[in-house]
Amino acid sequence: MYDVYKVRKDFPMLDGTKKMQGKNLVFLDNASTTFKPQRVIDAMTEYYTTFTANSHRGDYDLLYNMDVKVSEARKAIAKFINSEENEVVFTSGDTASINLVAFGYALKFLKKDDEILISETEHASNVIPWFKVAQMTGAKVKYIPLDENNKITPENVKKVVCSATKICSVAQVGNVLAHEVDVKNIAKIVHEVGGIMVVDGAQSVPHMKIDFKDLDCDFLAFSAHKMCGPTGIGALVGKYDLLDSMDAVFGGGGMNIGFSTNGTCVALNPPAKFEAGTMNLSGILGFKAAVEYLEEIGMDNVHKHDQELFDYAMSKLEDNENVIIYNKTSRNGIITFNVKNVFSQDEATLLNHKGIAVRSGQHCAKMIDEAIGTNATVRASFYLYTTKEDVDALVDALNEGGDILDAYFN
Ligand code: ALA
Repeated sequence: MYDVYKVRKDFPMLDGTKKMQGKNLVFLDNASTTFKPQRVIDAMTEYYTTFTANSHRGDYDLLYNMDVKVSEARKAIAKFINSEENEVVFTSGDTASINLVAFGYALKFLKKDDEILISETEHASNVIPWFKVAQMTGAKVKYIPLDENNKITPENVKKVVCSATKICSVAQVGNVLAHEVDVKNIAKIVHEVGGIMVVDGAQSVPHMKIDFKDLDCDFLAFSAHKMCGPTGIGALVGKYDLLDSMDAVFGGGGMNIGFSTNGTCVALNPPAKFEAGTMNLSGILGFKAAVEYLEEIGMDNVHKHDQELFDYAMSKLEDNENVIIYNKTSRNGIITFNVKNVFSQDEATLLNHKGIAVRSGQHCAKMIDEAIGTNATVRASFYLYTTKEDVDALVDALNEGGDILDAYFN
């Protein structure tokens, strides 16, 4: 039996002392970032108090110990998403991971009139790198049509895929509407025409059991900070042959075997090839602690908890005719809505006034407006420590309404 109140005890941010506007904090912005359990904080602190050394650059015990710890962390992350250890590249997060595919793989292999498939629901990190690559190579960005619920489906991918399709890159769970996309079947369709499948896992890897091998996608990107881990660290998981074939975007220490005056450089094998410079070592230790924590909780429990909260919130909100919900069918831990005749940022300010943290605006998904018929929404997002009482606080605040001038000026 999942005990959310026991889980909450692991998080210093949820110790009951944290306030916003003098009110008890109700944190419903978990799609943006998540709180960290004490053991993640301890793992990071321990790097600074007990293990400080670089990695890959020396022969003394303290440094060797760090090499071992980096390797253990890589193994833990590979186990978490079921890949091989040497398929896990440490990056600064989801954005850096997608940029690495764009500038390490796509820039090398795409040419004029090749096609990159994305959707209008993607957030900036899964759009802007592809625009840039298209500009640089002469390739074209094409959009997968959305179904009646604004969802990406394999059927609709079939409508636009063709022999020119070289890359399809979609979020497995979008950060606004949060539909789960059938990336496994989309990968099959894309592979049939010789393209590769890139999965933006920023909102899926933290919330559900992901099996990289079973999905048979080519690249999977995600960030640690959205899954109880530190900021500034994440992973690009890629099929080894593809990692091997692509270019290292960053050159520097730790990624090369040697370089010489004639201007040549021989890169190390993946994943080191992509990890130039001193790595975020405390972040890597925190990332490991985060995935181990989530494994102990059980990703199926995390996902079920998200779904239960979604259903609970929907059942409570359906009677409020003033609330327009844009993703009634998604059943993941995100509810995106507006209050009739209230600008989303005003609504978020009003909720802030009551101690409730939500995100408002475009959520970095700046092409979604046409699909949902509005250019700004309010987003409440849940995680493994969110309670029904948190949802009640949101629902009550929405039912009560309030004076926006009070929120701004008092
Ligand atoms: N992509 C993050 C969000 O959706 C920052 O809030």
